Amino acid sequence: MITEKLYLDTDREESVKKTAEILKNGGIVALPTETVYGLAASALDKNAIKKVFEAKGRPQDNPLIVHINSIEMLKKVAKDIPKRAFLCAEKFWPGPFTMVLKSSGYVCSAVSAGLDTVAVRMPKDPVMSDVIARAEIPLAAPSANVSGSPSPVSAEHVINDLYGKIDAVVMGDRCSVGVESTVVLIEKDSAKLLRPGAVTLEMLKEILPDITVDKAILEEYKDGEKVASPGMKYKHYSPSAELYLIEGESKDFVSYVNKMNDGCALCFTEEEELIKVKTYPYGSINDQKGMAYEIFEILRRLDKEKIRKGYVHAPSKDGVGLAVYNRLVRACAHRVIKL
Ligand code: TXA
Ligand code: MG
Repeated sequence: MITEKLYLDTDREESVKKTAEILKNGGIVALPTETVYGLAASALDKNAIKKVFEAKGRPQDNPLIVHINSIEMLKKVAKDIPKRAFLCAEKFWPGPFTMVLKSSGYVCSAVSAGLDTVAVRMPKDPVMSDVIARAEIPLAAPSANVSGSPSPVSAEHVINDLYGKIDAVVMGDRCSVGVESTVVLIEKDSAKLLRPGAVTLEMLKEILPDITVDKAILEEYKDGEKVASPGMKYKHYSPSAELYLIEGESKDFVSYVNKMNDGCALCFTEEEELIKVKTYPYGSINDQKGMAYEIFEILRRLDKEKIRKGYVHAPSKDGVGLAVYNRLVRACAHRVIKL
């Protein structure tokens, strides 16, 4: 299959129109959102959904997020929507925030991988919302990477993973957030954080004071265990390098990697000068948003540069740091060393 490249700087209108047409006709297109690039298909077309699973090599039991552009569309896709979900929508949409609600049965069951719930997000990126407006259909869109590899934050990453397997890619800008959306299961009397993102636990607590945190966010999935979010049980974001997540103060991290002297260091910018091995600084020590922006780009770079082993200085688990920690602990296959 030839993957068409659709440009925004030269002919935005035409690219949006073409994307909407391909999607309405059952095709699959990668396009930017503010979090990561998504691989979109009509959420109403089971053949198109099948193509998405195939192109990504995604396990059949891992459901997709449905992207919408209005509360009207939300009401079509979900049913029995609790009042607190509307409050969240008001506060966090459009944006990097996904709610898991009861499915109305409007989107095809393959989207929800057979569950009776549906994950819904209203993205902020104007390209995605213009495409939804033009196609007038909700779009199912997982991250546009091959299953298991780091999520794509640029059109180049999408092309590396999916060129020749999808109908088109919209050649947009680099994603501004850099990690996938926050996913929250919202029920009438309870709420659970399933995946941390740029909408932080602290922000969520203002509307959902009783929110709990799914244990899969920080702990390893054990075979056979029941999970609230199927995506969390899969090996993920994993570069081929053997990575270790190191928790501790800067001075201890620096002396640890210098002493080991057998792998690179994914460190904070402040530590770079003190480290003797090859460094991949992924952000300033207090700039968790900056770390989120860089992290997938750097994980991909490790593979490109054929890095075999590395030590990652763990971020703190507050604010957006929880999202970065979650992606890193999985990239490290839960090998955590506390100094
Ligand atoms: O930022 C994002 O969310 C990006 C962009 C493209 O919107 N999308 C994305 O999709 O990250 P994906 O498929 O890579 O991740 C979706 C996550 C998975 O962990 C999946 O298990 C979970 O959402 N999910 C989807 N539907 C669910 C459901 N009904 N119940 C529980 N978890 C669900
Ligand atoms: Mg993904």
